Amino acid sequence: MSKKEVYYKDYLQLDKILNAQDLESDKAGVDAHDEMLFVIIHQAYELWFKQIHYELDSIVDLMSKPTINDNDQTLQVVVHRSRRIIEILKLLVDQINVMETMTSLDFLDFRDLLRPASGFQSIQWKELEAKLGLLFEERHGKEYYVSQLRPEDRDHVKGVERTASLLDLLNQWLERMPYFEDGKLWGDADLTDIDSHPFWSNYRTKYENSLLEIEKGNLKMFDSVLGGKDDDTKRRLSAKACRSALFIYLYRGYPLLHLPYELMVSLLEIDELMASWRMRHVNMVFRIIGGRVGTGNSTGRGYLKAALDKHYVFSELAILNGLMMPRKDLPELPKSLEIALGFMG
Ligand code: HEM
Repeated sequence: MSKKEVYYKDYLQLDKILNAQDLESDKAGVDAHDEMLFVIIHQAYELWFKQIHYELDSIVDLMSKPTINDNDQTLQVVVHRSRRIIEILKLLVDQINVMETMTSLDFLDFRDLLRPASGFQSIQWKELEAKLGLLFEERHGKEYYVSQLRPEDRDHVKGVERTASLLDLLNQWLERMPYFEDGKLWGDADLTDIDSHPFWSNYRTKYENSLLEIEKGNLKMFDSVLGGKDDDTKRRLSAKACRSALFIYLYRGYPLLHLPYELMVSLLEIDELMASWRMRHVNMVFRIIGGRVGTGNSTGRGYLKAALDKHYVFSELAILNGLMMPRKDLPELPKSLEIALGFMG
């Protein structure tokens, strides 16, 4: 039997998508021209969220492998898909411009008709935050979150929060990096203790010397972030993982560290773009509804600004940038390690 010819609108299910704009103003017999834009823009966002989840799920899947070679195809695919997420997020930030063509009066024509629905109830957004690594305890206004979602949606997001996030997997992957514990590379020294490790004790001294007088307090941060000398139970990247991450940042010129570096930079960029979206959204909200409460009954601008500050996921990667020193001062690596990192010169 011959295969039925594929037809454009069937292939894309356009009958469903293009008939999915059920305007509340139409139902109420109210004239509200801009509700069509409001609905379509939210739908467009949700479709892009779906694509982001599709990429992110595959990344999580790949990163869950017990071993990932630093230079193999798996990591290339992870980086490539992360970059795709980045490009989509850029689009989502820009899309706010279109929403902002709606004025306050245009919004007031239909705003009350959609209460108490709100973007706050976007499950895909909450899921995205959770998959990246935002914990329930770290959410701003978590009680509000519990009360505003339907029980099945709340349970769904809670289920995602319980599974390994990209941040958890990043931690495991960084902890597996072998560079500092290989006795062949570093001789007989005690390699488990940062104070006696030939590389890290040297790096710490050089870092201390590179600090300005007013920055000397950074050494405490160094000991806490890289040495684990603190009782910070909230940290999500272990000291060991942070040492690997900083090493990758510093020595990214070595062939084997290119991809790991690209991955870390991509994660930082995702965090930054999510924050940019939040920033654009909160500014748009201020411009359109001023200081009024949201349709979801939060304080509106105040709630969104606090979430913006609290919902960074990869900030522990960003903090490492404060523990660097100029290239010219970096410790030289043992020849055997240089070879292991793919540098043959
Ligand atoms: C007129 C345009 C918009 C206004 C006035 C607005 C307003 C708000 C307000 C006040 C909140 C806080 C919760 C509440 O009380 O409702 C919120 C949350 C949210 N909105 Fe919008 N919004 C608009 C457009 C959009 C668009 C186009 C999207 C795209 C998906 C969106 C997605 C979200 C998300 C994801 C949240 C939850 C943020 C979080 O919890 O961190 N909003 N919005």
